[in-house]
Amino acid sequence: MNAKVWLVGAGPGDPGLITVKGLSCIRQADALVYDRLVCAELLAEAPVGCELINVGKRADHHPVPQEEINGILIRQAQLGRKVVRLKGGDPYVFGRGGEEAEALALLGIPFEVVPGITSAIGGLAYAGIPVTHRSHASSFHVITGHLQAGKAPLDWATLARLDGTLVFLMGMSQIDTICHSLIRHGMDPQTPAAAVMQASQHAQRMSVGCLTSLPRRVVEDGLRAPALIVIGEVVQLHDLLKFVPTAIQLDATLPQAELA
Ligand SMILES: C[S@@+](CC[C@H](N)C(=O)[O-])C[C@H]1O[C@@H](n2cnc3c(N)ncnc32)[C@H](O)[C@@H]1O
Repeated sequence: MNAKVWLVGAGPGDPGLITVKGLSCIRQADALVYDRLVCAELLAEAPVGCELINVGKRADHHPVPQEEINGILIRQAQLGRKVVRLKGGDPYVFGRGGEEAEALALLGIPFEVVPGITSAIGGLAYAGIPVTHRSHASSFHVITGHLQAGKAPLDWATLARLDGTLVFLMGMSQIDTICHSLIRHGMDPQTPAAAVMQASQHAQRMSVGCLTSLPRRVVEDGLRAPALIVIGEVVQLHDLLKFVPTAIQLDATLPQAELA
């Protein structure tokens, strides 16, 4: 029995950004458990007979509860299958991959993590924004914008003082709060800021402005989730550093490691 779960990062959306190891896992999976940020081209790499299990959104548009996803991974592994849990970006960056790995580890189910390119870095690169730059930002900070009622609020005073690039994930519904809280806690209202929607995908679009103007711009431009909000001087480089990505075919001849 070679039951095992591979938590694989799919990258931000351009299928060419999957790792060689991640692609090899997909091509040998008995079951592929995926969420909504994973692109169709990668799903098409699953072998004939692989069971594809969508845990993105249910028919009623509600997300599948995390406990249910953990249960699916556990049951599939207990059937003796090679299970690939394919997650957008990197599995351990705001993807609840840590919780899935914990659930497996607690039951002694073998698992492995295949890191992916997080949207927080790779997605910004596709928008012409280097997350650090010697002249502009010597650190970067990736923050959840999913501000839950009843949970401790973000420490806006500390965030506003940071001299690096701030990247908010899952922040589009809170973009007003994010920009205004940073201004209220002392960040320069003219600090460059942008939102990048569906980064690295054909539908990639962005709005650019400053802390004051960005919330209005994203409404005018019709930007919505999934999107990254990026704040800091590096945003100014976007026009100079934008590029047209090369579309590549996933290479069928890549050597495959025998999964064990
Ligand atoms: C649950 S988090 C998962 C992040 C993922 N694990 C990663 O490393 O990129 C989902 C959020 O990531 C961001 N995101 C992921 N992929 C994106 C993309 N291609 N373009 C823009 N934002 C993206 C959005 O903020 C989205 O709401």
